[in-house]
Amino acid sequence: MISDDVRLPLGEHCRIRLLEAADEEVLKGMFARCSADDVHLRCFAAMKDFPGKMAARLARMDPAEEIGLVATPLEGEAQEILGVAHVILDHEEVGAAEFDVMVRSDQKGHGIGYALMTALLDEARRRGFKAVVGYVLRENRSMMLMCGELGFVPVRYEGAVTYMRVDLTTVELPPLGVPAA
Ligand SMILES: CC(C)(COP(=O)(O)OP(=O)(O)OC[C@H]1O[C@@H](n2cnc3c(N)ncnc32)[C@H](O)[C@@H]1OP(=O)(O)O)[C@@H](O)C(=O)NCCC(=O)NCCS
Repeated sequence: MISDDVRLPLGEHCRIRLLEAADEEVLKGMFARCSADDVHLRCFAAMKDFPGKMAARLARMDPAEEIGLVATPLEGEAQEILGVAHVILDHEEVGAAEFDVMVRSDQKGHGIGYALMTALLDEARRRGFKAVVGYVLRENRSMMLMCGELGFVPVRYEGAVTYMRVDLTTVELPPLGVPAA
């Protein structure tokens, strides 16, 4: 479902492709443009040198256990990263992967997160994962809503955090992007 041209709900377009090691500097630039509030929603805490550490971590992922996707402008346009979604083999549940996702703060609300998560779930299923799980702060309304629309269900509550899970063997994923009007 990865695609060179995804039409977003407001008529904009982006490309969704696999994350590459060469993306590190551009990823760092993306994370540097994420607000402190968004970093808190992503990490549940402040993190020293969040941009550098996150970019290095993702650029050096283990392809045997992880999948990373990035959303970028279309080919031919200035290349920057608008959002990133990632899964890593979960060590609690056999066959599951744990997700994380982040969209550049000035790009939120355009449908990029939803498109990235749709493509990520599809790619995770294609690679043989049976489920995707993740922790979401309950105050993260946008993420909770999106998880619900993508078939995640709450499994347990841990303080301010909900542990969400989607069964990839049964979920029906939406199409990637919206059809042209
Ligand atoms: C949470 C986050 C990834 C969402 O990404 P986003 O690009 O802003 O979200 P989208 O624009 O894709 O989706 C926003 C909304 O449209 C819905 N939506 C988007 N595209 C859609 C589509 N094609 N069909 C149906 N619904 C759609 C979503 O459910 C959501 O609802 P809301 O904004 O009305 O509350 C982003 O806000 C972010 O990076 N936040 C900070 C980090 C974070 O919270 N990460 C998650 C940690 S678990």
